[in-house]
Amino acid sequence: MTPRRVLIYHPDEADAYARLVRAPRGAVRLDVCFAPEQAAAPIAEAEILYAWKFPPDLLARAGHLRWIQAMGAGVERFLVRDLPSRVQITRATGMFGAWMAEYALGWCAWVTQRMDAFREAQRQRRWLALDPQPLHSRTLAVMGLGDIGLAVARAGAALGMRAIGVSRRGKKSRGLAAVYRPPALKRALGQADFAVVVLPLTAHTRGLIGEAELRAMKPTAWLVNIGRGPVIDERALLRALAGKWIAGAILDVFETEPLPPDHPLWAMPNVVVTPHISGPSVPAEIAPVFNDNLRRYLQGRRLRYLVDRARAY
Ligand code: GLV
Repeated sequence: MTPRRVLIYHPDEADAYARLVRAPRGAVRLDVCFAPEQAAAPIAEAEILYAWKFPPDLLARAGHLRWIQAMGAGVERFLVRDLPSRVQITRATGMFGAWMAEYALGWCAWVTQRMDAFREAQRQRRWLALDPQPLHSRTLAVMGLGDIGLAVARAGAALGMRAIGVSRRGKKSRGLAAVYRPPALKRALGQADFAVVVLPLTAHTRGLIGEAELRAMKPTAWLVNIGRGPVIDERALLRALAGKWIAGAILDVFETEPLPPDHPLWAMPNVVVTPHISGPSVPAEIAPVFNDNLRRYLQGRRLRYLVDRARAY
């Protein structure tokens, strides 16, 4: 049997991912690449691409490709027009919810526990008698209720928050007080003390949260974006933050990444900028998903966590 060609691509950790691949002896041949110029030849031979931040323009050369396993949750980089329809895409699922719930609720608590103020007062050896605010009893609205959004919502509910959400189908879900469909987005945002955005980037979600949606929020509310930057209209967000339509924003994703050094968001007092780290891809966490799907692929069985290419997530 000729071994199946697998291209493993990751700018920093391709070798760590490669070491964790498990397949019957001789079943696969791995090409391990860290940079676009290294991947340009092997992508033409690859049947399977296992990748993070793969250069989309190289997909036009992927003449033998059958399956892409993303090392992350978002797959928009792979959904290029040149990608033949025979290529199945699967995403990494199951490992990001816990990370991103900790990130989202951790930063919500940073707001309510006034962590910045107490650290600053400590630096000045000043006894700052300031009460914290509660997270419990506050409304947490989560936009996008895939496995990550649900984990965020349920973590909030476990802290006593009133968790609500918005999803495409608006289906009720355990732990959530209400779930709305997209036409009721402003209604959900208007109730939020904390609004967490975990939407994938698709033609429907690009720019979904714009001026009207931000104006629907309470002036005391915080916006947390851990999905994709372009889901929020960044210019409208800048106006919302400067004009105090909302209290502040915790932003892990941006229209342009890395966020350019001269970008106004860096200097805003009511903004926290983190560099797209809320849901880290850890090789040991992603490997079981790939290995399970690889076994299925080699046996000709249906893959898990398939992306619906028409829906784009
Ligand atoms: C990170 O952004 C991912 O898509 O997993």
